[in-house]
Parts: sequence; C-alpha cells; structure tokens
Amino acid sequence: MKEVATVILAAGKGTRLNSALHKVLHPVAGRAMIHHLLDSAAKLEPAKTVVVVGEYREQVQDALGANVEYAVQEPQLGTGHAVQQAEPMLKDFTGDVLILYGDVPFVKPETMVSMLDRLHAEDAPAVVVLGFRPPDTLRYGRVISDRFGRIEKMVEHKDANEAERACTLCNSGVMAVKGSELFELLSRVGNTNAQHEYYLTDIVNLANEDGRNCAVVECEDHREVTGVNSRAELAEAEAQWQEFKRAEAMDGGATLKAPKTVFFSWDTQIGKDVTIEQNVVFGPGVTIGDNVTIRSFSHLEGAEVEEGCEIGPFARLRPGSVMKEGSKVGNFVEMKKTTLGEGAKANHLTYLGDTTVGGGANIGAGTITCNYDGYFKHQTVIGERAFIGSNSALIAPLKIGADAIVAAGSAVSRDVGDGELRMVRAEQLVKPGWADRFHDAMKKKKAAAKKD
Ligand code: UD1
Ligand code: CA
Repeated sequence: MKEVATVILAAGKGTRLNSALHKVLHPVAGRAMIHHLLDSAAKLEPAKTVVVVGEYREQVQDALGANVEYAVQEPQLGTGHAVQQAEPMLKDFTGDVLILYGDVPFVKPETMVSMLDRLHAEDAPAVVVLGFRPPDTLRYGRVISDRFGRIEKMVEHKDANEAERACTLCNSGVMAVKGSELFELLSRVGNTNAQHEYYLTDIVNLANEDGRNCAVVECEDHREVTGVNSRAELAEAEAQWQEFKRAEAMDGGATLKAPKTVFFSWDTQIGKDVTIEQNVVFGPGVTIGDNVTIRSFSHLEGAEVEEGCEIGPFARLRPGSVMKEGSKVGNFVEMKKTTLGEGAKANHLTYLGDTTVGGGANIGAGTITCNYDGYFKHQTVIGERAFIGSNSALIAPLKIGADAIVAAGSAVSRDVGDGELRMVRAEQLVKPGWADRFHDAMKKKKAAAKKD
C-alpha cells in the first residue's frame, strides 16, 4: 500500500446541535466523535493527519493536541474550500489522501482500506467516493453512476433535478484521491451553485471532464456512514454504536440476558463466558475477565474485574476498583480505589473506599470505611482472611491484621493485630423482668388517668 494522509473536515461547529461544545467533541459511548474517527484512521498508520478547523477551533485543538496537524479554514466556504486549506501541509505529499468528515465518525478501517485499494485498481480512477443507500435520501448529495460503479456525476440535493433526486445512491462525503492530483483538481472548483459554496464533490465532475474515471465504492451498511447533525442524530449514533458493541460482546462469548438494556463504553473489554444481566451500565475503563457474572442494575467505571468474580445486583464499582480472582461484591456495595483480594467477599450494603482487602476476607453487611475526614482521604488495609462483623465503621487510616475478627457494630479507630479480636461496643446492661414490671406500672397509670 502507498503512504496515506488523512484530511478530516471539522471547520463547522455544528449549528444544529445548539451547543457550546463543537459537534465533533460530543461523545458517543463516552468518547468524542472525532476520537472514534481518529482511532479508526490510525489503523491505516497515516503518514500525516490534517484536521481542518474553523469555528470553536481552540476546543478541537485542546482535545487533539499535537498528535495531528491543523489547517484553519476561515471563513467556511464549503467542503472543497476546506480541503484546500490542507494544501500547505500536503504540498510535497505524493501518497494517497483520504478525506473524512468529523461528523461521520464510524467509518470502519476496512472500508477505508477498500477505498484506497479501489484507487489503485487497473482502471486508475482519479477519485474514489464512498457511497451508501440510506433509508431516507433527502438531504444527501447524490452519486449518479453506471452499473460498474463508474461515476457519471455528483450532484448536491439542492442542485439536483427530479430525476437525479430519484437516485438512491448518496455521497457519504468520504473520498480517496492521489495526493499528486487532489490540489490541482481543487484549484479548478468554482462556486456557481445553489449554495454558492466550493463543493468537494465537484472534483469528480472536473476529473470526468478531463476524460478520467471516477469510482464509487458502496458501503454495505448505511449506518456506518450516517452523519451526526442534530441531538436526535447523536442519540441515534449512540444507539447504533451500542448495538454494534453488544453484538461484538456476544460474538466474543458473553451472554447478555437483555442486550438492549446493557450499555457499554467505547473501551469496555469483556472476556469469555461472562454473563451480564438486565440493566447494567459500563462507564469508561472497565475490563472484565472470563467467567464473571454481573447481575442486574450494576454500574461499573474504571474497574478491573478478574476471572470468576460476581457482582451485584445493584453494585457500584467506581474508578480504581480491582476485584481479584473469584471475589464477590453483592447488593448495594460501593467500591472506590479499592482492591478486593482473591476470593474476598463484600456481599451487602457496604462502602469500601481507599482500601485494600486481603484474599479470603469477609466484609460483613453494612461495613463502612470512613476514609474522608473532610480534608484528606485515608487508607484502610484489611489482612487476609480477616472477618469484619456487620455494621462496623472502620475509621481510616487503619490496619486490620490477617485472621483478625472485628465484632459486629464496632467503630474501630486503632490498628488491629493479626489474629486479634476487636470489639468496640458499650457495656451491656442486663435487667431480667424489668420490661414486664414497666408495662404493668404504665398500664395501671393509664387506667387511673381515664377514670378522672
Ligand atoms: C456534504 C456533501 C454531500 C454529502 C454529505 C454527507 C459536499 C458539497 N456535500 O454535505 O454530498 O451527502 O456531506 O454527510 O461536500 N465543513 C468544513 N468547512 C466547510 C463546510 C463543511 O469543514 O466550509 C465540514 C463540516 O464541518 C462537516 C463536513 O465538512 O464535518 C460536511 O459539511 P456539511 O455542511 O455538513 O455538508 P453537507 O451539506 O452535509
Ligand atoms: Ca453534514
């Protein structure tokens, strides 16, 4: 394959989203749209990546940093004009140029590769366009082509006549062009059209006039190239992404009891023979090992879960949670910056924050690590096989030794040694028969009061 450069158009802020955030930075599955696109493009190992920015460009530059080059387009005079701004960055570039739109973020690497392959086919097309057939063609530019996929004309919806509008093959916006030809073609694009814009699509028409071929590659799944122009389309993109990810998880050997109710993050990693029950939500940074069961209504974020663990129902794993092999977290348990050792259990109603729990330890119902004094966070270390009785408050910083027992209801503020029992409770008052005498006395008093 030849060297590749990508040009990503993102000069328009996306007025229809009605947002203070640039369109391409809106997240899908917790990741900015443009990052999804850059991740896919990175699979081609591009020699150069140029992002064309304009409105809200500081936001885009802050998000992408120095990993890409920027071309500024000001004012925005159309997609052709936008690509032209990348000329200084690509003037000596003789490889292939792949043009992508920041608001069409889910183009697959395989699709990108097939376009570059088509560019180098025997008939040597000047331009390769990615076409698709959406259920509703209304606002898209049309690709008028013959049955061999040779393009006769590219026409924008606003400029199209009735016969052209009847064509169902639409322009996704994605194009592949040889770097040595792109800017010469662009220099000849005018703006005599319905929108008085410099259309990128016109390079196809100009190449045709030169007697060159241009080819369309048809995208099998229209959802791969659906653009995001409004909040409704953003929600649609999220829904589509989730569908793809659920299918991928199931293909990878996970059982999803009700797939539509499970929500993944862009980076969720799931092992084999994992069972995920209804209504489970993954935030970013979660890795799930093999043979893990996640029960209903659990929420996981920034968590590493090893083989054979059980989670939930109604569990919350916050960032920095690590569950070692075979450990268990039950209902209404919250963990944060906490490692639960091999086979350890916290089965009910517990908060573990800034804590290390040794292997085989048992954390009783209602145990709370008091990790915050209002100013600083403190650590709790619980030894292997320790037994923490129900409703204990562990006041950090605190160490509890291996095999130690903390009696139920204890508020522990000093370290507990290995194998020690710690009981922190008030002395118990025991008065046999006292309650009976009390009730008798009170009943008599009430009867006397009624007579008066
Ligand atoms: C464009 C295509 C249309 C295609 C559709 C697919 C042209 C002329 N039209 O139309 O054929 O069906 O995309 O979604 O190419 N942009 C700039 N600078 C500009 C104008 C646009 O950077 O001056 C960027 C936008 O930020 C966006 C992309 O280019 O990422 C597409 O622009 P948009 O105005 O949405 O084009 P469409 O009218 O949708
Ligand atoms: Ca668009």
